[in-house]
Amino acid sequence: MIVEQGTPRDLFASARQEVTRALLHGAEVTVRARGRDHTPVILNTEGISHSFGRRRKRIALRTMTLTFEEGEVLGVLGRSGSGKSTFARIIAGLDTPSTGTVVREWADGTPTKVALIAQEPYSSFDPTLTLRDSLGAAVSGLPADTADERIRGAVARVGLPPELLDRIPARCLGGQLQRMSIARALLVDPRVLICDESTSALDSVAQRHILDLLLHLNETMDLALIVISHDLDVISYVSDRVAVFHEGEVVEDRPLTEFLAAPAHPYSRRLVALSAEPGSVADGR
Ligand SMILES: Nc1ncnc2c1ncn2[C@@H]1O[C@H](COP(=O)(O)OP(=O)(O)OP(=O)(O)O)[C@@H](O)[C@H]1O
Ligand SMILES: [Mg+2]
Repeated sequence: MIVEQGTPRDLFASARQEVTRALLHGAEVTVRARGRDHTPVILNTEGISHSFGRRRKRIALRTMTLTFEEGEVLGVLGRSGSGKSTFARIIAGLDTPSTGTVVREWADGTPTKVALIAQEPYSSFDPTLTLRDSLGAAVSGLPADTADERIRGAVARVGLPPELLDRIPARCLGGQLQRMSIARALLVDPRVLICDESTSALDSVAQRHILDLLLHLNETMDLALIVISHDLDVISYVSDRVAVFHEGEVVEDRPLTEFLAAPAHPYSRRLVALSAEPGSVADGR
C-alpha cells in the first residue's frame, strides 16, 4: 500500500508515518571518525597489478601498494571500472595478481584469513539448498556436532533466529540474507572481511542495520573491514581511513576526517561536493 505521499520537501520535513521516518533516519549522514591507535599490520599488497584479456591488454590494477592494520576499517571509493572488485578478489585470494604479491600474515608469520561478501545476497547462495546446507558447506571438514555449533554461533552473532536456517534463500528478506552471507563469512574465522557493495541492494533501514552489525563485529571481534561503496554516506559512516581508486591506481589514502575536510583528487572533490547538496545522488559517475 502507499501509506504516505507528498512533495519531497514536505516528506523530508514532516513525515507522518513511522515507516517513512525510519527510512529517512536510515539515510541520515553520520561521520564516525573514531581515533585509532596504530596496531599491527596484518595484510599488505606489494606492487600488485592485474590485467585481463588476450595478451593482457586491459589493465585493471597498476602497481598498487596498500597496508592494513588489525581491526581497522578501510573505505574504498572509485568510479565504475576503477578496479575495486578486482582488488577485492585478489585480496581475498580468489584471483592471483598478474604481478606483485599479497602478504596475508602478521609479523610473526601467523596467517591472516580474509573473507569476501558480495553485493547480491540472492545470487551468492544456491537457490535449491536450505541456508543450513549452504552454511554447512563452509565447515564441511568439521565433525557434524562441532559444525552445527559453529553455524548456530555465527547466526546468533549476526542477530538472526536459528529457524531461518531451515529456509531456502527465496523465503528470506534481502537484509536477512545479507546477514546470512556475513554469518557464512564468519565461519572461516576471518581477520579481514571485505564487503563489495554489500548494502547497495538494500533499503536505507536494512542498510543501516547491516552497517551497524559490521561495526559491532569490528568492535567486538577486532575484525578489520574493507568496505567498497559508491555511496560516500556509507563510507563516512563506517570508515577510519579512505582509499580512492582511479583507473587502477590508489590516488588517495588518508584518514576519513582529513579526506572529508580536504579531498585532493578531482574525483574525490566532486564526490564530496555532490554529497553536500541535499537530495543529490552522490555517486560522481
Ligand atoms: N573478468 C573480467 N574480464 C575482463 N575484464 C574484466 C574482468 N573483470 C573486470 N574487468 C575489467 O577490469 C576493470 C576493473 O573492473 P572492476 O570490476 O574491478 O571495477 P570496479 O571498480 O569494481 O567497478 P564497479 O564500481 O562497477 O563495480 C574494468 O575495466 C573491467 O571491465
Ligand atoms: Mg565492482
